[in-house]
Amino acid sequence: MADIAGLRAFSEIQERDEAPFFTGRDAYITHIQKACANALTKITYRQSITSATRLFYGAPGAGKTSLLNEIAKRSARRDFGDINPLVVRLASEKSLNNEDDIVLQIAETLGKDRVFRTTVHSDTSVNAAIPAIGSGGVTKGHVQDPPAATFFNLKHIYKDIVPKCPILLCIDEIQNIGPKASEMMSLLHQGEHGLPIIPIYAGLGNSLNVMMDHGISRPVDGYIHSVGALAKDEARTAVTEMLTRFEVDQNGAMIDWPDTLAERSDSWPQHLHNAMRALALELIRPEVNGNLKQVDTAAVFNQEERMRMRAYRWRVSEMLSDHRELTAQVMHHVVTSDLTRPEVKTIIEDVHEKTPHKLPANMTVDSFFDHLAHRGLLQEFDQQDADGKIRDVIRCPIPSLATYIMERGGVDPSYDPVVLASKPPTKNNDENAF
Ligand SMILES: Nc1ncnc2c1ncn2[C@@H]1O[C@H](COP(=O)(O)OP(=O)(O)OP(=O)(O)O)[C@@H](O)[C@H]1O
Ligand SMILES: [Mg+2]
Repeated sequence: MADIAGLRAFSEIQERDEAPFFTGRDAYITHIQKACANALTKITYRQSITSATRLFYGAPGAGKTSLLNEIAKRSARRDFGDINPLVVRLASEKSLNNEDDIVLQIAETLGKDRVFRTTVHSDTSVNAAIPAIGSGGVTKGHVQDPPAATFFNLKHIYKDIVPKCPILLCIDEIQNIGPKASEMMSLLHQGEHGLPIIPIYAGLGNSLNVMMDHGISRPVDGYIHSVGALAKDEARTAVTEMLTRFEVDQNGAMIDWPDTLAERSDSWPQHLHNAMRALALELIRPEVNGNLKQVDTAAVFNQEERMRMRAYRWRVSEMLSDHRELTAQVMHHVVTSDLTRPEVKTIIEDVHEKTPHKLPANMTVDSFFDHLAHRGLLQEFDQQDADGKIRDVIRCPIPSLATYIMERGGVDPSYDPVVLASKPPTKNNDENAF
């Protein structure tokens, strides 16, 4: 008998809440494990940990937050082997504006029982649990203030409590940092704090640019990861696990559901999650009652598509909606050839100059490109050419997103994009597009 209550609860999990069927990302997790092992070696030899900043960037719904959550979960389960890192999640990118915020968050994660101490005073009413660092809990005049929340003070406390424990300092939405974060971001990158900190940032497609504008002048090649779609097998695994976990009766199913959902979602985590929710919604209908054979395939597909289209509508800003033809033509060039970043910028310039589809008055080619990357329409990936050379190429990370943009911008994907660039604009009849 299928677990209908479990399926119902799963169907109600909103996007971004959690990834109950987390799959793949092994290379990223191994990368972080190696970073911890290297950090441990450096701690042992009393070397400082420098240039350790990692970045996971990608389009909305690629699974960046879920990856940070997974790292924290694995550390809590002691899945990192001998070296169990302390995973510290900063509340927001704004915490990077102040040294105290970072230091106090690390102290808080270490745990009150480890960082707090009880004072002993002849007047017992003064005895209190006071922080070993930071402020508060102290009766002035009787007990000394604890040391200020600085990296310097934390370093002394830290090495006594957990001498061999790297700190994974995780911050999400890093694309939102402002100039105030520069000082801390640079200090963390240079390792000037003297603590075994590995900064791990996650953010949208323009994150690297933003970081390089604010604090990281030289990121390390190999530490910057473009998070994209899952491999098809990984996506299949998530669906299989879901069917197994909820004890769904799979006998006589009309189609191979793991394969179909992986295919329809382009193995894109957010869409996959929604496709699985769509299937769960159908499975809990009383007439279906957790039996795959009874599922109305069309109903699942419709629901899945509705959720995917809603996600795309949210992704397209008002500006891109107003400039849908320009956006569609850029996308058309990107999907028909492997272009580098400068080549895509030349295309934007060409469309702007040679067709009636102009850039917004307040935007340059660079800022338009950045906006497309920020919204997840374009993303940079490594590509190995036939001669073995690695090239950075720009792609739309999700095939169905590219199709959506082209359709809404009146571009027929079968046109030759070069010819298209000099054609008059196509009339767009769909007023509600985007
Ligand atoms: N590796 C994964 N395996 C299975 N499901 C995943 C995985 N990664 C993410 N998901 C699912 O995809 C959805 C989107 O993931 P997440 O919120 O982590 O994306 P994001 O990249 O942080 O998006 P945003 O840029 O909008 O913050 C979540 O609902 C999650 O359940
Ligand atoms: Mg996120």
